[in-house]
Amino acid sequence: MQLGYASHIFQVFTLADTQYLCGMPSLQEQIQVLEQEINAFNPTDANELEQFRIKFLGTKGLVKQLSTEMKSVPPEGRREAGLMLNNFKKLAEGKYEAFSQLKDAAPSGGPTVDITLPGASIPAGTRHPLKVVENEIVSIFERLGFSVATGPEIEDDWHNFTSLNMPEHHTARDMQDTFYVAQNPDWVLRTHTSSVQARILETQPLPVRIICPGRVYRNETISARAHCFFHQCEGLYVDKNVSFADLKQTLYYFVTEMFGTDTKVRFRPSYFPFTEPSAEMDISCTVCSGSGCSLCKHTGWVEILGCGMVHPNMLRNFGIDPDEYTGFAFGMGVERITQIKFQVNDLRLYSQNDVRFLKQFQGL
Ligand code: DAH
Repeated sequence: MQLGYASHIFQVFTLADTQYLCGMPSLQEQIQVLEQEINAFNPTDANELEQFRIKFLGTKGLVKQLSTEMKSVPPEGRREAGLMLNNFKKLAEGKYEAFSQLKDAAPSGGPTVDITLPGASIPAGTRHPLKVVENEIVSIFERLGFSVATGPEIEDDWHNFTSLNMPEHHTARDMQDTFYVAQNPDWVLRTHTSSVQARILETQPLPVRIICPGRVYRNETISARAHCFFHQCEGLYVDKNVSFADLKQTLYYFVTEMFGTDTKVRFRPSYFPFTEPSAEMDISCTVCSGSGCSLCKHTGWVEILGCGMVHPNMLRNFGIDPDEYTGFAFGMGVERITQIKFQVNDLRLYSQNDVRFLKQFQGL
């Protein structure tokens, strides 16, 4: 079967075109050559694949062109020619499909990006458990009208000791192993946040109602139960007619908000130079509810803070008349509250930056 010769078809032959130019290749012969070309086609980028599509499958491509040649095929050969053409078309389409992933790839030479891969996750950090608990302490007292106050970590003797009713050589100074700053014998790393009480009473007009979170330092050997730095939250309320009943009710509210309404509290008499009377407050053990465990050392109670009525000497140190004004104060360890809340039994974990520990507080 002979086809009318279409010269434009030869422009796309890649084999020895001259061989065909000599004679008049049949539709069958043309398709055979083109099929060889398709079979050998092995594109490496989207551009090559697109050229292939235009050449074979485009609106002016070879499949279309050869279909128009069908007109000149004698009727008895049409069926066979039609079948061949159909297979040729399928071969071209199959090849195009087989390499279709090249369409999504970056242009050759550039970086290849598979946009179907899941995105790289950005690991989110977590709040430090001490900060989580400190924030909670602060927000409970803020709800009672306390506002946050802060002071320096390097403190002078007056604000850390003397003004708090601990003059030089007072034995209470020995209760806290102090770090002194070598450059100045009058400077210490504050041993408690009670120093902020002094700074506030010195500068703020009365009444004051403050909560003071912050880091404190003591010269302790580091162990599971002691560290050379830790965190405290100090509270102070000075006004006319402030009583021990106000102190108890304030701290009771704090405990029920922090540990739940089932928690019981008890006050034990104690001694602090800056308060009189002084007390330590215990809560019923939140782990064993009083039946006895290692947290409460089988007593059913855990100590959480020290407190008392501000000592008249301390008020006088700041020019406040103790007959006119009274106040209460309290101080708690943030590590202690965190230990009770999350059952952390080694203080060192808080400063080791071990992500296996820190990750456990995700989302808090
Ligand atoms: N400053 C004390 C300490 O570090 C804690 C404390 C006890 C603070 C009684 C107070 C208080 O304000 O009234 O151990």
